[in-house]
Amino acid sequence: MKKGFLWGVATSAFQLEGSPNADWSSWDSILSQNPEVTNHYAMYKEDLSLLKDLGVNAYRFSLEWSRIQPKENVWDSSVIDHYQEIIGILKSYHVEPMLTLHHFTHPLWFIKKYPWHEDESVPKFLEFVERIVSSIKGVSYWITFNEPYVLLLGGYLEGCMPPGIKDPSLALKALKNILICHAKAYDIIHKAHPEAMVSVAHNMAALAPWHRWNPLDRALAKMAKYFYNHSLTDAFLTGHLKVKFPLRKEVLIEVPIKDKLDFFGVNYYTRVHIRFNPFKQMLIELRHLDIDGYGLSDLGWEIHPYGLEKVLRYASRLNVPLIITENGIATRNAETKIDFMRKHVDAVERSIKKGIDVRGYFYWSLIDNYEWLQGLDARFGLYRVDFKTLKRKATNAAAYYSYLIRSRSEF
Ligand code: BGC
Repeated sequence: MKKGFLWGVATSAFQLEGSPNADWSSWDSILSQNPEVTNHYAMYKEDLSLLKDLGVNAYRFSLEWSRIQPKENVWDSSVIDHYQEIIGILKSYHVEPMLTLHHFTHPLWFIKKYPWHEDESVPKFLEFVERIVSSIKGVSYWITFNEPYVLLLGGYLEGCMPPGIKDPSLALKALKNILICHAKAYDIIHKAHPEAMVSVAHNMAALAPWHRWNPLDRALAKMAKYFYNHSLTDAFLTGHLKVKFPLRKEVLIEVPIKDKLDFFGVNYYTRVHIRFNPFKQMLIELRHLDIDGYGLSDLGWEIHPYGLEKVLRYASRLNVPLIITENGIATRNAETKIDFMRKHVDAVERSIKKGIDVRGYFYWSLIDNYEWLQGLDARFGLYRVDFKTLKRKATNAAAYYSYLIRSRSEF
């Protein structure tokens, strides 16, 4: 990798520190036993020192909006100071901060009163953005939204994430408002910091037909791939979001995001196989198959490094630098984690050799954390957390990541 390549780890605030005022706290009963999750809000210094041990030069983290604005008109500046202190510590370690404004959670008052499908959500979110951009100093890399499509699938189509709605029309209204917020946040950040690098982190998956011989499986896989991976990328190029759901008419939504992108954040984890099933919502059934023999994670997700090359190739049409803002595996087996990292970093190197402008790789995640639909059992961390004693312990994967960084860098 070239000099300046960002070697990082990624985290999100709620997954490490919880928050009493977030929508997720009352959504998932598991959090009532571990409301502080890893207690990172108090143990941040210890956790950040792990970055030094790893030798990363970048760290992606998010702000917990519900701590900063626990009630509609109440702002807690001590929380902003806390996040600013984190940035100071990163700088003292020569670690580049990448800041995510929105990573799935909301203050409870927001999601109850101004859910994303209501247009009033836009000015409310932007108040938060203005407040942050005018107070936070020292950040060059900004992510406005983490995985808007996952938020949409979970919150508006499957209903397994707050606000728990299952309605494709409301989903599209919500998506439009979120993308309007991205565009406006992009301008707000650039006004204050003209040199800033701003993006979203888009979850892209390898999507394939379950049975290649079945034209219905092929057609659905193609439709899903376009919606999930490509419609957002294309909207950044055209300003139009083309959406086609099974059995529904194609819709074209105008979104003001054309060129509102300085780099593109790609989150990549797995391949998903798709088949036609008349009994499923939208006629689609999803499954992970271990076709190439690389194995499955503890969550049953297929390990498929080649998919990373494919999504990077598609994203490269945006003509902005690409950064892998998340890539990781939930497994208790350090050897499996090591193999996963090596194979995915190899895929990044192959992409760069083929001329794709990839400027960074962030492993998800630094320490074990709360995984939205799987609670505390999904072990993504390079460092193991014992959720009873809250002790952190390095796994062999941490040592391997340091080695990988040293051996693949030209510093
Ligand atoms: C999300 C993370 C999540 C990870 C593993 C990404 O979709 O940004 O919050 O923990 O995947 O599921």
